[in-house]
Amino acid sequence: MWLERLCFGTSTFAAGRLRPDKDSRPGIATLREAVRQGLRWIHSNPRLGTQWAIREAVADAPVRHLIKAEAALDATPTQRRDAIYAAIDASRRNLGTDQLHAVVWEIDLKHTRHHALLVDENAVGDFYDAGAQMIRDSGVVDSQVAYCHSPAHLCAAKRCEPITGIAAQYNQAEPWPAFYLDGLEGPFFGMSPLRRGELGPSAVSWAAAHPAVTAVVVTMSTLEHLAGVKAALARPPSLESVWETARTWLPPGDRE
Ligand SMILES: NC(=O)c1ccc[n+]([C@@H]2O[C@H](COP(=O)([O-])OP(=O)(O)OC[C@H]3O[C@@H](n4cnc5c(N)ncnc54)[C@H](OP(=O)(O)O)[C@@H]3O)[C@@H](O)[C@H]2O)c1
Repeated sequence: MWLERLCFGTSTFAAGRLRPDKDSRPGIATLREAVRQGLRWIHSNPRLGTQWAIREAVADAPVRHLIKAEAALDATPTQRRDAIYAAIDASRRNLGTDQLHAVVWEIDLKHTRHHALLVDENAVGDFYDAGAQMIRDSGVVDSQVAYCHSPAHLCAAKRCEPITGIAAQYNQAEPWPAFYLDGLEGPFFGMSPLRRGELGPSAVSWAAAHPAVTAVVVTMSTLEHLAGVKAALARPPSLESVWETARTWLPPGDRE
């Protein structure tokens, strides 16, 4: 049961020029064990060069792959298309699978030069909409997930017909997505529930507590961390504690 709500995040393997000396064996053993116990979701970024390790760990197990694709908000339609197809093609090749479960389509904030566009809901909506159509047209991806950096971006994504799911950083220090979970129709993926390891394992169960959360995406490189996450997911906190934390994100006058 606990594994249904867990997606393995994978940034902890050796990767070509980026991290050639990283010992990938503990991470591969951890992913292999999670899959053996029934894990079915894996999120990866083809640009990190780590998908080889997923393929090695997973072999022929029936997992669903979510992969990341990103482009600047001011990228041309051709550049967006190239980014999407490069991510899809590389992932299918590296992961050894014809069909991907989802592309998580994200605005590349760092490379967006026209910052004013980031608060233009039409520009953001068009980015999600056009990208999701390209992903759908590829014919090799089951669903189109919008990665949302802010409440405004999440609202823009919700209005896009070809977007079928939402992803966002979601943890006790960034709890704002909780306010939108009740109104979501498709799946929701909570990224960085441990805030890159700053929070304890109980933070994973906080992020998975709302029933609208399809899966929380956790990076784990050791069997001990996998066991800690498993134990935490078996003890979900009350939904009220999710709202209590989320309310702290609001200005004091809006908390009641
Ligand atoms: N823009 C995006 O697409 C985006 C953004 C953010 C995150 N993500 C995805 O979400 C995944 C997770 O995000 P993240 O790595 O930022 O944060 P995270 O999963 O919240 O935290 C990962 C860190 O927590 C540690 N950890 C795992 N289990 C633990 C446990 N039981 N007790 C103590 N520490 C534990 C890990 O250590 P070890 O590695 O040593 O086990 C790692 O340092 C990423 O790999 C990525 O796939 C995607």
